[in-house]
Amino acid sequence: MQIKVTVGSPRDIKVDVLAVAVTALSGKRKKLPPALASLDTAAGGAVSQVVKNGDFAGKKGQSLVVYPNGAGLKAGRLLLVGIGDAALEIDDLRGLGGRVTRAARAKKATKIALVVPTTKGIANDATCQALAEGAILADYKYDRFLTDNGKKKPARPKASLSLVYSRLAKPAAARAGARRGTILAESQNLARDLSNAPGNAMTPVALAREAVKMGRATGLRTRVMDANELKKRKMGGIIGVGQGSTNPPRLIILDHKPRGTAANGPTLCLVGKGITFDSGGISLKPGASMHEMKHDMSGAAAVVGAMRAIGMLKVPVRVVGLIAAAENLPSDTAYRPGDILTMYSGHTVEILNTDAEGRLVLADALAYANQTYEPTAMIDLATLTGACMVALGDWATGLMGTNDELIEGVKEAGERVNEIAWPLPLFDDHKKLMKGSVSDLKNAGAGRSAGMSTAAGFLAAFVGDTPWVHLDIAGTGWTSRSTSYLGSGATGVGVRMLVDFLEHWKPRVKKASKTARKK
Ligand code: BES
Ligand code: MN
Ligand code: ZN
Repeated sequence: MQIKVTVGSPRDIKVDVLAVAVTALSGKRKKLPPALASLDTAAGGAVSQVVKNGDFAGKKGQSLVVYPNGAGLKAGRLLLVGIGDAALEIDDLRGLGGRVTRAARAKKATKIALVVPTTKGIANDATCQALAEGAILADYKYDRFLTDNGKKKPARPKASLSLVYSRLAKPAAARAGARRGTILAESQNLARDLSNAPGNAMTPVALAREAVKMGRATGLRTRVMDANELKKRKMGGIIGVGQGSTNPPRLIILDHKPRGTAANGPTLCLVGKGITFDSGGISLKPGASMHEMKHDMSGAAAVVGAMRAIGMLKVPVRVVGLIAAAENLPSDTAYRPGDILTMYSGHTVEILNTDAEGRLVLADALAYANQTYEPTAMIDLATLTGACMVALGDWATGLMGTNDELIEGVKEAGERVNEIAWPLPLFDDHKKLMKGSVSDLKNAGAGRSAGMSTAAGFLAAFVGDTPWVHLDIAGTGWTSRSTSYLGSGATGVGVRMLVDFLEHWKPRVKKASKTARKK
């Protein structure tokens, strides 16, 4: 979907649907605000009629399409979108963009315009960004596998949305905001596409191909380690988890290294869990909702999406995205309960449950990232535990880590983009519970209590003293609810949050002793 910013009278815009946000119309006279009154006049009273009839009162959530009378309006339809009385906040603007898009698409409209509402305390660039995000996210549909009775379906026609201002002092700023919102939402939609793809289409090799394709188009350095290289480098976690499948594992690296960044400047590593299908392995999962485990690479998808946006927005910080991709299947070559793996870090891990595979692949990727890039901070994203889903549902991402400032920074970014991340404890006891008796660590076996924290406790053994945040997106990566701008299925959670975090990040660069040996 293309987003434009246009300046001029809404009356003169030739579109299929002209949308206008309407505040609550209360009182007996239900007087229309001046801008709407002038549109009403141009539309031959079409608005005042439905208000008088009681069909529309500007209530939040209410919307109505009306047809203009006469030729005073160039638009074919007028879409009234109720926004209630409270002042609009950023997320209401995303919702407005989403509602307009959905209502217009329901009328098969492709040329859409929205009269930008006045927003107190929100600058035009942020307004346009939020409207663009909401519109493009709402316009998303995963239809790759839908046919027209066996025949290839023609692609859905692309839509355009014009954000209309009557007057605008700095159109360049508004346009920059719309562009930012477009990049962010399209990157999030890319993450949704990757996550929604079924396991037979999204193998580790396919994920690597998609990541590299994106990286090349965006100007990132890309590198993919195949199974031989992973073996040579002794990545026992990724190899162990992946060895049960004929689809071999991969470690995917996407490197955003802006020109001119100092060699000892800050570096952020983003690490994603990329289990392209999680059957549980020999510790097989129950059948009922196993198919949903095709989205067990949502952490990886978030990293790919975020790296796209980071590259396109030219964020002036070095960011390295690493994805540990493997398929967890039972077979005669699969790793077994009782096996002891030697990880990239050298630690040994006894496998008590092959379904606790995410932490194993992440452990290698985190240890490799830490050793290779000596990052200022690391953030991992993973659909890691069922415990996270039980605790937080799809309402919040589980937020844990070793550094309070970093945790706070991520939490605030989540609030700004409305992807809530909620802090959970990571106590020394959680780390101790993951210690083994015949090996350094065990991958499970701490019981069901505090499953989200013990998983983080396991990961903590692989991050050294680098400030690190772990985001458990087991619940938020996938949703069955629909909001005003996000439909059901893969959510692409994490993309906007990571970019927002980076743009507000004030890294504490490590001292000279750690001048990086950067590849
Ligand atoms: N991918 C799952 C976690 C998951 C479950 C994500 C449901 C999304 C929805 C993960 O690999 C897993 O199976 N975790 C186990 C760990 C346990 C065996 C220690 C779990 O949480 O049950
Ligand atoms: Mn599992
Ligand atoms: Zn898993």
